[in-house]
Amino acid sequence: MKIQADFVTSVATAADIPRQAIPEVALVGRSNVGKSSLINALVRQRLARTSAAPGKTRLANIYRVARSGSAPLHLIDLPGYGFARGGSDGFERVAELMLERNPAVVLLVDARHPGLPTDRRTWTWVRERAERRVIVASKIDKLARGERTRAQKALDSAFDSPVLPVSAVTGEGLEELWTLIDNLLTTNQ
Ligand code: GTP
Ligand code: MG
Repeated sequence: MKIQADFVTSVATAADIPRQAIPEVALVGRSNVGKSSLINALVRQRLARTSAAPGKTRLANIYRVARSGSAPLHLIDLPGYGFARGGSDGFERVAELMLERNPAVVLLVDARHPGLPTDRRTWTWVRERAERRVIVASKIDKLARGERTRAQKALDSAFDSPVLPVSAVTGEGLEELWTLIDNLLTTNQ
């Protein structure tokens, strides 16, 4: 699959986003969970800035992705939640406005920490706002085989919804995630 991906814009509010009839997919998750890395892995380019320190992405960054044989879409990299450096969490403000645009939502949770209260609260929040949504567990490469089975069970039961394990490092789960995204985007709503 050939992929053309480009940075479009960086916005502080949804009102700043150019109005375009292009499907949107927003990545939601705690700071440092790997949202920006997952975007890079999905498009096979280093487009989004990543960091070992949480709080890297502070605005909503929008990327236009065109895959051969598929309609173009926008991937929206949102600031992470759970990281407030002496002030309001950028996530709340930006994400709340962004979800009003009714994007498909990918909630990213860390495969090593299934069912964190903040992630469960966020899933409830997402379910109230987005009809098209999916949960993905990041950093699955960090778990040994035995740990994976346990983590998968804990994840599925914590969210009452299947959770797809992925790795931005090994590429595991990325084809499946593209398929899930395509299925979400073709869902009528
Ligand atoms: P914020 O922008 O702060 O909200 O963080 P983010 O969710 O965008 O996380 P980011 O992609 O910057 O990644 C955070 C750290 O996790 C970086 O050090 C990445 O290299 C690492 N990381 C991300 N995805 C993976 C993965 O699948 N496997 C492993 N082993 N490390 C990962
Ligand atoms: Mg980021």
